[in-house]
Amino acid sequence: FTSGKLKGMFGTVEIVADKMVNYLNEQLAEGDVKEFEMKHVMGTYAIDVIASLFFGLEINSFLEPNNEILNVSRKVNEPTFGSVVRGTCQFLYPSLEKLFIRMGWREQAPNMMRQIVQRTIKMREEQNISRKDMLQLLMQLRNKGEISADDNDWSAKAGNDASKPMSIETIASNLFLFYVAGFETTASGISFTAFELAQQPAALEKVQRDVKQALEKHDNKFTYEAIQDMKYLELCLMETTRKYPGLPILNRQCTRDYPLPDSNLVIKEGTPIIISLFGLHRDANYFPDPMLWQPERFVNQNYDPVAYMPFGAGPRHCIAQR
Ligand code: HEM
Ligand SMILES: *[C@@H]1O[C@H](CO)[C@@H](O)[C@H](O)[C@H]1NC(C)=O
Ligand SMILES: *[C@@H]1O[C@H](CO)[C@@H](O)[C@H](O)[C@H]1NC(C)=O
Repeated sequence: FTSGKLKGMFGTVEIVADKMVNYLNEQLAEGDVKEFEMKHVMGTYAIDVIASLFFGLEINSFLEPNNEILNVSRKVNEPTFGSVVRGTCQFLYPSLEKLFIRMGWREQAPNMMRQIVQRTIKMREEQNISRKDMLQLLMQLRNKGEISADDNDWSAKAGNDASKPMSIETIASNLFLFYVAGFETTASGISFTAFELAQQPAALEKVQRDVKQALEKHDNKFTYEAIQDMKYLELCLMETTRKYPGLPILNRQCTRDYPLPDSNLVIKEGTPIIISLFGLHRDANYFPDPMLWQPERFVNQNYDPVAYMPFGAGPRHCIAQR
């Protein structure tokens, strides 16, 4: 996730974005008005980006809603009795969930994803295919022992020392994590931004101007660099992740007995800690009038960074923050 790698993958993302724009244009014949469920449109876009960047699958979920990845995604999000029990356990009684797993309770979705990853890696290795995506970088890590510092080097050909320290299982697990962490957060971040802009014509106009000016500055080409110049758009996304944090909480574990100031309570080492991002981000002490969506509040970095952690903090912060 360095800027060089992101730049390299930009074209892959842009192809997916074009599919979304084409879909919307087709739905909106000249001059027509049509209602869209934005969460659905953005969720479809997000899943295609993930399918393409992480799993190396070029799909168009707008046109083919019954594709493999969407099927897996539906499995992951299915609110069955079992998945609700299991999800609750993951959160409240992790040891109970481990017991379930030992008793043989396997989830279907990770298995389906493992098969997709296995098949794609095999195909790329057999046919010497190299593609600018996350899967390719993980194959490079697996086959060469490291990810190349050269942003133009996407090759994953094994060297002489053919030991493979990273199993396909590990690659598949990481990709599954990226899917789980990236799908809903991306889809809701974009749709909440659209939702707020739809209610604030002045801000909408401002962001349109911002995008237009940035494009003009870059020969009307939609590039990685052009996006860096869309400053007001960035403020909008910051404000959205404040008011609607993609994850409502952070999880931590207390590593050392901690006496609470002005109290005789002690948080014992090993205690699981839940930090409410909703609570912090909507606290009027830190963000006056917190329910007002107002990108300008982030101008000049004029906020308390400790009260604003939409991507978490420390060594385990979100890898996708940039
Ligand atoms: C607006 C979009 C997103 C938001 C608001 C968001 C938010 C977060 C938050 C709050 C955490 C927990 C950090 C902590 O505990 O300190 C996290 C972790 C993580 N996120 Fe994101 N995320 C977003 C998008 C993504 C995307 C697109 C990916 C896919 C690559 C991703 C991958 C991850 C991973 C892998 C972790 C775990 C990192 C670790 O434990 O070391 N996130 N994210
Ligand atoms: C996805 O699921 C649908 C309905 O269950 C099924 O008809 C379709 O064949 C599946 N697609 C793939 C690629 O497996
Ligand atoms: C892929 O590369 C290897 C080693 O460079 C070569 O032996 C093999 O024939 C190539 N396969 C194809 C399908 O090009």
